[in-house]
Amino acid sequence: MQYVYIIVLGLHVMAGVVWAGTTIAVAREPEIRAERFFRPQMGAAGVVFLTGLLLWYFFHNGSFGSMEKVLALGILTALIAAGVQGALVGSASRQLAGADAATQTQLRAKMTKGERIAGGLLVITVFCMATARMF
Ligand code: HEM
Repeated sequence: MQYVYIIVLGLHVMAGVVWAGTTIAVAREPEIRAERFFRPQMGAAGVVFLTGLLLWYFFHNGSFGSMEKVLALGILTALIAAGVQGALVGSASRQLAGADAATQTQLRAKMTKGERIAGGLLVITVFCMATARMF
C-alpha cells in the first residue's frame, strides 16, 4: 500500500509545482501568451485537487487538528485561485480569437490580472502545504 501513497503524493506535488509555477511565471511576464498555458494549468489543478482529496482521505479523514486547519487554509486559497483563473483568464482567452487589437490588449490585461491574483493565492497554498506538518 505504501507505493500508492508515494505515487499519489508525488503526483500531487508535481502537479502543484506545474500549476503554481506556471501561474507565477505568466503573472510576472505579460508578454507570455497566457492563453497557451490555461488548459495545462487547469489540467494540473484537476490533478492537484484529485490527489489532494485522496491524501486527505488517506491521512486526515476524521480529524481536524491544527495541521488540518493549515491544510484547509491552503485548500481554500487554491479553490479561490482556480475560480479566479477560470473566470478571468479562461473567459478572456476564449474571446481572444477574432478580437481587434484594442480588445486584445484589454483581454490580455484581464488575463494578467487573473494570473497575478491566482499566483498570490497559490503562494499561500504552497506555504500552507509545505509547513502544515509543523503545526
Ligand atoms: C498549488 C497547489 C498545491 C501544492 C503545490 C501542494 C503541495 C503539497 C505538498 C508539498 C505537500 C506535502 C507536505 C508534507 O508531506 O509535509 C502537500 C500535502 C497535502 N496536500 Fe497539497 N498542494 C497543493 C494543493 C492542494 C489541494 C488543492 C489539496 C486538496 C484538495 C491538497 C491537499 C493536501 C493534503 C491533504 C496533504 C497532506 C498529505 C499528508 O498528510 O502527507 N493540496 N501538498
